[in-house]
Amino acid sequence: MTIEIIGTGRALPPRRVSNGELAERIDTSDAWIRSHTGIAARRIAGEETAASDLGIAAAREALNLALERNRMAEQTPEDLARTLDLIVLGSTTQDYYGCPATSCLIQRELGAKKAAALDITMACSSFIYGLETAAALLKADPRRRRALVIGAEVLTRIVNWEDRGSCVLFGDGAGAVLLEKTGPENRAGPDGEPGILRTILGADGSGWEHLIIRRGGSRHPLKKGEDAVPEVSMNGRAVYTFAVAAITGVIRRMMEEERILPEDLALIVPHQANARIVQAAAKRLGMPEEKFYLNIEEYANTSSASIPIALDELNRSGRLKRGNLIITVGFGAGLTYGGNLIRW
Ligand code: COA
Repeated sequence: MTIEIIGTGRALPPRRVSNGELAERIDTSDAWIRSHTGIAARRIAGEETAASDLGIAAAREALNLALERNRMAEQTPEDLARTLDLIVLGSTTQDYYGCPATSCLIQRELGAKKAAALDITMACSSFIYGLETAAALLKADPRRRRALVIGAEVLTRIVNWEDRGSCVLFGDGAGAVLLEKTGPENRAGPDGEPGILRTILGADGSGWEHLIIRRGGSRHPLKKGEDAVPEVSMNGRAVYTFAVAAITGVIRRMMEEERILPEDLALIVPHQANARIVQAAAKRLGMPEEKFYLNIEEYANTSSASIPIALDELNRSGRLKRGNLIITVGFGAGLTYGGNLIRW
C-alpha cells in the first residue's frame, strides 16, 4: 500500500510587494533584505482575504490537476471533492481564533461532505506534520482513500510591522496536495513505487520562546478595551542556529537510515525561511546548493504553505518527474522540525 501525491495546487494573492516598496514604509533596504535572506518580494493578501480563501483556491487547483493528469472516474473537481475522506490544514493564521477549525470552512466550501477535517498548528513544520498525519490516517482504515493536505497563511496580518528584523521575512499564500492510497499493482515509478516513503518528525520545546505570538492565548488573553494585537515576535539568531542544525540533522539522518546517496536525490525541497539558512545547511552537508529548490526570492516565508507551493511549481513545470526521489525538510516555531522522503 502506498500513499501517493496525485495532484498539487497553489494560490498566491495578486499583490506583489517588493523590498523597495517595503522600504518606503519601514526602515530597511532592498540590499539588506536580499543579502541577509535572499528575499526580493512577497505577496500580501487583500483585507477581505483570510487563510481559508487561499486554502480553498489552492485545493481546487490540486483537484483540477489530479483530474487532468490521472485517469479518474470523477468528472469534475466537485465530484472529486465528494470522495475526500480527510482534509488536513496547516496554518498559523486560521480564520478564527480557537474555533471553528479552518479546515471545516474549507470542507464546507469544497462540498467535501464525507471528509473529516483537522487543523495542524505546528507553525512552519505544519505541512510536514500534516502529510504524515494524513498518510497515517489513510493507512489506518481501509475505507479511507483520499485526503487533501493544505498549507494556507496570511502571515502579513500577524507580523509586527514595527519590527524590521521579522516583518520583512514573511508573505501570504497557500499550497495543497491531493493524496490517494493506491495498491502496489498501480503506477510504479522507474525505481520503485511512488509515494510518501518515510517521515521524520521532531520537536524541541525548550526553544518555545524563540518564535511566539505572545498575546491572545489563555496565558495572556486579550482583555476588553485593550488595543494590543496578537503579533509574531522572534529571536532571529536563535532560530537561525536551530534551523541550520535541524535541516542538516533531518537530511543526514534520512539519508543514512534509508541508505540514500546524494546522487539518488533529484531535489531537496526545504521550507523557505531564509536562503542563507539553506546555503549554510548545504555547505555543512557537503551538497551542492543546486540540490535545494529555492523560490523564497519571490514569495518570502509563507510558513506552512512554502513546501506545497514549491511542490506545485516543480510538478507543473515538469521539473519533478515520476520516479524522482525528493526530501522535504522544514522547521518552525515550537520549536519543531521534520522531513518527508517522497518518490514522485
Ligand atoms: N533592514 C535593515 N537592517 C536590519 C533589518 C532590516 N529589515 N533587520 C535587522 N537589521 C539590522 C539590525 O538592527 C542590526 O543592526 P545593528 O547591528 O546596528 O544593531 C543588524 O541588522 C543585524 O541584525 P541581526 O538581527 O543580528 O541580523 P542577522 O544577521 O541575525 O539576520 C535574520 C537577521 C532575521 C535575517 C536572521 O537572524 C534569520 O534569518 N533568522 C531566522 C529567522 C527565521 O527563519 N524565522 C522563521 C522560522 S520558520
